[in-house]
Amino acid sequence: MPVMHSPPGACTMIDGRRYLYFAGTGYLGLQGHPELIRAACEATERYGIGSANSRTAFGNTPPVLEVERRAAEFFAVDDAFYFMSGYVGNNILVLALEDRFEAVFVDEFSHYCVFEAARLTNRPLFRFRHCDPDDLRTSLKANLKPTQRPLMMTDGVFAARGQIAPAAEYQTVLGDCPGALMCIDDAHAMGVLGANGRGTFEYLGLFDSPDMFVCGTMSKALGGFGGIIPGSRRFIERLKSTSPYYGGASAPPVPAAAATARALELARDNPDMRTRLWQNVDLLKSGLRELGFPADDTPVPIVCLTVGDAENMQRIQRELMQRGIVIAYMATYSGLGPEGALRLAVFSTHTEQMIRQLLDELTRVIQ
Ligand SMILES: Cc1ncc(COP(=O)(O)O)c(C=O)c1O
Repeated sequence: MPVMHSPPGACTMIDGRRYLYFAGTGYLGLQGHPELIRAACEATERYGIGSANSRTAFGNTPPVLEVERRAAEFFAVDDAFYFMSGYVGNNILVLALEDRFEAVFVDEFSHYCVFEAARLTNRPLFRFRHCDPDDLRTSLKANLKPTQRPLMMTDGVFAARGQIAPAAEYQTVLGDCPGALMCIDDAHAMGVLGANGRGTFEYLGLFDSPDMFVCGTMSKALGGFGGIIPGSRRFIERLKSTSPYYGGASAPPVPAAAATARALELARDNPDMRTRLWQNVDLLKSGLRELGFPADDTPVPIVCLTVGDAENMQRIQRELMQRGIVIAYMATYSGLGPEGALRLAVFSTHTEQMIRQLLDELTRVIQ
């Protein structure tokens, strides 16, 4: 199993060798940022690693509260709940909303954690075709009883293939069902999509609605660690007073929280990080199109390529690595076919020359 010996970034040390790195989810290249590291070290010296107490008792630390304050500011909402992992964000949402829906409708390619939360509800669960509002409508008509209210769940941006959920169309479809709710896991869109990096809702021009909820992570583009749910004051108060993830679990550790708070500040103050990311996405995707690959033209920094069978894609991944470039071959992941796929991720910190090098080497190894 390969081991990473440096922060993930445009260049990353793996097993003692430095690679051009186009994998993972550090889209803004913040994980190794000196200011995040300094913030983590300073806070650790003051407060230790963690509070060893529940947040309902004495377990709040200044860095954890700072993340919630800065996240509220970043997402332009009243408040936020910061917890140990984005993976449990959907669990937290569905538990808080459980008296507001009777059936759950989930995009078939949603992340594992979305399905885990949907099963946790103990309500009838229906999968609809990937990114297909018409199929959602058909499924609602076929499966929802007249008095029932649906909860619709999906990723905002899909981790492997990089599609953006058609949330505006879903909103229209759900508009026909009184009391319908929408939950979006925006782990791959936070910090990336929208003029202010607020994610899928901002990118699609969807405004605050009391029926739309979002969760996500600080561990990917935003370079820190831990899960986040931004929302209205009332909703966040409800989460904190009822969620077992508030009362029964430790808050994210101090170094992670301090780094995350600083990352939110940097992402707010440096919109050029996002502009550079989108330019790099454009450069990579237009280069791939010139090579004959069907890359979309969204600003999502994820590209999924299927080139022959699994064996061929493993060979491409291996040969690129021999040439000093890391991309991922994903054998299995939600939404991928039986042969798996190659996944490329681009960061704001990649230079034009690095992206051109990736395209050149890809041309050489793809047959
Ligand atoms: C859609 C989605 N949600 C949640 C997570 C988990 O987030 P975290 O790493 O903060 O636990 C991931 C991570 O891969 C993800 O892709």
